[in-house]
Amino acid sequence: MKWDGDELLCKNLFTDPKPELDTILVTGATGYVGGRLVPELLARGYKVRVMARVSSVEIEERWPNVEVIVADALKPEQLSKALENINVAYYLIHSLLLGPKKFEEADIKAAYNFRVAANNAGIKRIIYLGALGEFGTKLSPHLKSRNQVAEVLRDSKIPVTILRAAVIIGSGSASYEILKSLVIKSPVFFLPYWAKTKCQPISIRTLINVLVGVLETEETTGKIYDVGGKEILSYEKMLRIMSKLLNKKKIFVPTFFKNFKIYSYFASLLTPVAAPVIKSLMQSCNNDVLCESVNVLPASMYRPISFKEALLRAMSREELDAVHSRWSDEYPHAHELAIKLHELKKSPHYISVYSIISYKKVDSLFKSLCKIGGKEGWFHSNWMWRLRGMLDSILMGVGTSRGRRSSNVLRMHDVIGFFRVEDIIENKRLLLRAEMKLPGKAWLEFLINDFENNNELTVTAYFEPYDWKGKVYWYNFLPFHHIIFTNLIKQIDKRS
Ligand SMILES: NC(=O)c1ccc[n+]([C@@H]2O[C@H](COP(=O)([O-])OP(=O)(O)OC[C@H]3O[C@@H](n4cnc5c(N)ncnc54)[C@H](OP(=O)(O)O)[C@@H]3O)[C@@H](O)[C@H]2O)c1
Repeated sequence: MKWDGDELLCKNLFTDPKPELDTILVTGATGYVGGRLVPELLARGYKVRVMARVSSVEIEERWPNVEVIVADALKPEQLSKALENINVAYYLIHSLLLGPKKFEEADIKAAYNFRVAANNAGIKRIIYLGALGEFGTKLSPHLKSRNQVAEVLRDSKIPVTILRAAVIIGSGSASYEILKSLVIKSPVFFLPYWAKTKCQPISIRTLINVLVGVLETEETTGKIYDVGGKEILSYEKMLRIMSKLLNKKKIFVPTFFKNFKIYSYFASLLTPVAAPVIKSLMQSCNNDVLCESVNVLPASMYRPISFKEALLRAMSREELDAVHSRWSDEYPHAHELAIKLHELKKSPHYISVYSIISYKKVDSLFKSLCKIGGKEGWFHSNWMWRLRGMLDSILMGVGTSRGRRSSNVLRMHDVIGFFRVEDIIENKRLLLRAEMKLPGKAWLEFLINDFENNNELTVTAYFEPYDWKGKVYWYNFLPFHHIIFTNLIKQIDKRS
């Protein structure tokens, strides 16, 4: 993806690039923060190596000049190659998507393995982005785990610069999307006592400037810095500011009810983020997260902006369809193990194919097809898609409200509602894997066959049931498939 100079977040960063640092390793590059950091480093002339658990065409296409090393921090034997000939490494690994029960153990183990491998490789410096929250206070599992990771990384000869931030506000950030969806969709807010907890949200712009700035400022080596925005706000105040910006009138009702599980469940029905992730984030609302470190960063790299400005910047990025990374980009571990369509030993049990002949050009058909599930929905029978998504959300699935990162452009592994892109071949094929709760494995494939005088546009639904429930499911949905899919491809043709 080409970057417009104006889109770079560090265009006003006043530290000087240090080419002598040679190759910089970015772990967690496929995540939300890493996805914003890598292009900034490249734009400043650094050689960048990214460590990812799965090698993908998407990473190579997204950052053609980046070296990609496949390594899982939970598999120590894979780490030495990623750390070979590296002076400075960013540590942005985070396993929150594993859910509340598993992420703490995985994060500590990953940090320990990384520290040992980094020591063996003789690297000079680690830069870690963790979370605010004071040790000694009763921290949520999420904040506690972020601080434990910092301790594990620091327990070595290698100096670690630790940056600690609270909620990040930027286009595509989970916190921003939760806040925005709640304000758009909920007329009433039942406020628990923890809505009064104090927080210092930071804009993604400020954060990325600091992440790059500390790399270019030797004196920050081995130090801890708390970073935040201009104001200290309660979560209630944030909701009020967002409501005002979106011109939405809301009713705020204080309540004694405080159960995180119930709150996160209802929030997941209204927002794109899954309940376990919201729960982990909400539990942190019990703790004040304010900047209190003794060390202060210089203004050359740290210029906090207001919460309102951060929101406006995020909204304008969305308007311009220039969201370069999103919380949903992280490829959930479970899906790394997901069987791909081409990996099935034999073709799926149930297949239904619908096609039409089109006289439109191949590229325009493909462009139109790549807009499905975006702002315009699924082009036809939207209520049926929404109903299916709602059912999935009620069953604690991902639902359709995850939406998409960009309304026009699709990349490998991008999310489209309850699907994820498994394969994309320009002007030819789009293969989506279903991530909703299903009694089987399902895919949706769009193919464009280029004939001499016309083209054929085909959509194929594949389904491999786990057991008899899957078979019942398939036959129940078959009549709807006919209506949905034939109309969908007709609309793709019409809009191209
Ligand atoms: N986002 C926020 O609002 C926020 C706020 C404050 C602080 N922070 C801190 O910023 C850091 C980055 O957060 P983020 O939001 O960018 O995280 P994220 O979007 O959840 O991404 C996490 C990254 O970690 C990688 N990862 C997970 N397990 C791994 C493993 N075993 N081996 C190698 N890579 C692994 C993932 O790679 P795969 O693609 O392979 O899954 C992904 O690239 C975290 O330390 C977080 O605490 C974030």
